Amino acid sequence: MTRSEKPLFTAAQIRTRVAELAAALSRELRGQDVVSLIVLKGALHFGSDLVRAMTVPMAVDFVQARSYHGTVSTGKIEMLGRPTQDLNGKHVLIIEDILDTGVTARALIDFVEISGASRVSFCALFDKPARRKVPVHATHIGFPVDDVFIVGYGMDYEERYRELPDVYTLVL
Ligand code: IMP
Ligand code: MG
Repeated sequence: MTRSEKPLFTAAQIRTRVAELAAALSRELRGQDVVSLIVLKGALHFGSDLVRAMTVPMAVDFVQARSYHGTVSTGKIEMLGRPTQDLNGKHVLIIEDILDTGVTARALIDFVEISGASRVSFCALFDKPARRKVPVHATHIGFPVDDVFIVGYGMDYEERYRELPDVYTLVL
């Protein structure tokens, strides 16, 4: 497995879209008690760029989740890291790299709701709608993509390619 030579999305395209998402989110979240929850590891760059482009005060926290693969999709995920902030009564903005089957997103939204958040917004930079198994209400999406595996800008294949500023497709 290797990455495509040509980026599918360049760092410049990503920067433009991140600025648009940040502007929309800032309008929506103004005046709210906001906690941005960056989902590790995939959203490390996206989350960092997005919160710095937003113009509302907020707390920033992290969550690390891994979906169980290889078995029936039960909607269960493994929580490897939890936020340290109290989410009770907060408007929580979940920041994800990519929405795929929806299992991880569904579990994260459930976790945030159970934690007492007053509102949940869900923002993913990429979305593969054709792969969805669990319905998820994503309030903000950067780019829809076809059913291809993408790497770079935080996203990995077996822990490789996260450091790349552009996004590539994975090729055989
Ligand atoms: P889901 O639970 O199936 O929606 O999986 C979502 C998670 O799987 C994302 O947060 C990513 O970490 C990972 N993932 C899904 N598709 C891709 C991809 O194309 N490239 C890299 N990681 C992916
Ligand atoms: Mg992820």
